[in-house]
This record gives sequence, structure tokens and C-alpha cells, in this order.
Amino acid sequence: MDTTARREQWLREVAAAADAAALAALETRLLGPKGEVQELVRSVTSLPKEERPAFGKAANGVKLDVEAALQQRREQFAQQALAAELAAGDFDPTEPGPRPARGTLHPITLVQNELVDLFTSMGFQWEDGPEVESEYFNFDALNIPGDHPARESQDTFWLEPHPGLGRNLLRTHTSPVQVRTMQRLTRHGFHPPLKVIVPGRCFRSETVDKTHEHTFYQMEGLVVDRDVSTANLIHTMKTCLRVILERDVQVRLRPGFFPFVEPGFELDVNCPFCGGKGCPVCKQSGWIEILPCGMVHPHVLREGGIDPEVHTGFAFGMGLQRVVMLRYGIDDIRQFMGGDLRFLRQFPEVTR
Ligand code: PHE
Repeated sequence: MDTTARREQWLREVAAAADAAALAALETRLLGPKGEVQELVRSVTSLPKEERPAFGKAANGVKLDVEAALQQRREQFAQQALAAELAAGDFDPTEPGPRPARGTLHPITLVQNELVDLFTSMGFQWEDGPEVESEYFNFDALNIPGDHPARESQDTFWLEPHPGLGRNLLRTHTSPVQVRTMQRLTRHGFHPPLKVIVPGRCFRSETVDKTHEHTFYQMEGLVVDRDVSTANLIHTMKTCLRVILERDVQVRLRPGFFPFVEPGFELDVNCPFCGGKGCPVCKQSGWIEILPCGMVHPHVLREGGIDPEVHTGFAFGMGLQRVVMLRYGIDDIRQFMGGDLRFLRQFPEVTR
């Protein structure tokens, strides 16, 4: 079969196609599954063995040429169509193009931003601390003795020890930043009052379920001054919960044990879902446990370089996911890290 003649013939036909529709039909006729060009390429199998390489090469060359010619002609038609549209004046080149999809902030970030705004407006400073923490700041400095169950490997992600350095871990709470902050300030001769918040990511070796995550966010708060009392703690917490849950709240304190506070409390808020009457979310109690807190233990103040005879303080450790769940009525903590965009897109876009 004469590949040269076929090639000329097809290229003429492509050049003669009257419009885009005719060109598309021609393309199917030539390159479709049973197309003429495809047949030519396939016909190599019917030739004697010695003729195959040369013919195969020629046939493939024809196919490439036809494809290129079709492509070129398609572009010509597209250009012509655009020129016609412009000439007719129906096309407005100043009209903005399609808007790129815009991301939204993660619900934890939204709530964290609100809390940071609120606390900074009350005179708190934002402190930061490392996620890879030393055993000293995460435990010892916080009056958590070596045999405390919180150090057990099922709770803490320990890191490979470095010879000569203490053991490191992924911080299990934001409380280590309490002593970090106090030490940094007192080392430079600064004395209370001091008011800080520490939003941050924490890690615990937990089995993940509806209410537990191995990676979670806390916001620590620490206030140290003369005559700081439990009344100050309650007032601050009530203000914070009222703003973040967007309603008037009642709170109650129950004793809670944390080695770095004395006395320590669990602060409960009246259930936002039933208003305190009792429902499945609050397990019929009318109250939801929301944040552990307490008066800073004298050992911890002393470790931070502050004299507990002169100054007292309170601290709290708010679980951010928990607050977000209450705020938006989310019942499964795994949603936050699950990466499901349908979940994430439900939260209002905010520009700050
Ligand atoms: N760090 C504690 C925890 O994660 C919470 C806490 C913070 C308790 C501050 C009291 C005071 O469990």
C-alpha cells in the first residue's frame, strides 16, 4: 500500500474540512477505533516479515502527521471562533474570570482565634512552646513525680533518648509552657503580674474513639499576681465560656486532681443542648465537664522563680476540640482530623 499517496490524500482532506464539526467527523473516520489511519497501521501484520520494519515506520509517520494536521486545523477553527465572537462584540474581555475556590479555616482555628482575641483583649499575652518537650518541663517541673501514672508509656509518646540529654517526648499538655514562661521572665528580673495563654497541639498515646484523639489542641492559661484567688479563676472562666458558647452560662466546680495545682478543679458548664434538664449529651446530668483548672501549686511557682509567699496564681487547660464540639454540636472528635472536606466546608469563612 502506498503510504505516501494516502498521506497526501488525508492531509488534503484535513485542510479542506469546512468547519469544526466536519473536522471532528473526519477525525473519527481517520483515527477512530476502525479509522482508516488505524487500519493502515494495523495492515503491517499482513506483510511478509522483511517488509514490516520499513512499512511500520512509514505508517506510524503518516499517523503522526495526520494527528498534527488535525490539531493545527482545530486550533485554527478555535481562533476563528474567538475572533468572530470578539468582532460581534458579545465577548467582554474585562469581565472577571471564574473565581478560584477559596479555602476556609479549620473549626479549631476559628475557635482558637476567637479565644486568643478575647484573652488578649483582657490583657493576656500569647506564649508558645515546643511540641517536642523535655521530661523536665512536661513532668518534673510540674510537680509530677517519677512514678506518676501519666508517665506510663501508654499515655506518653517518648522519643529516642539522646546520650547526655534528658529524655524527650511529645508534650502531653500545654502546661509545660507555664514553667517555661515563668523561668524566662523571672530570669530577666521580671516579676508578676503575669497573664498568658498558650494555644497548642498536644499528643497522647490513646486509642482513638468518638471522644479521644491521639493529637489534640489545648489552650493553657496562667495568671500570677498578688492575691489571685479562686474567685478570679471562676470569673475569668465564666467570661470565656459565655463568649465562646454565645450564651449565658452557669458553671460549677468539682474537685479534680492535677499535681501542679492545689486545689485542683474540674469546671463544668450547664449543658447547652438541654439547658440543664438532662439529655444524652450530658448523660442526663445537666452538666458538661469542660475544663480542668486550679490554683498553681507552690512548687510550680518556685520552679518558675516566683515566691509563693508573695504571689499566687491560677491555671487552666482548655481542650479546644471539646469547646468546638459544644459550640457547633459535633458529636465525633475524629471529624477534626478525618480530612473529609464536606465536614470542613460547613464552617463559615472568616476574613481577618
Ligand atoms: N494540663 C492538664 C491536662 O492536660 C490540664 C490542666 C491545666 C489542669 C491547668 C489544671 C491546670 O490534663
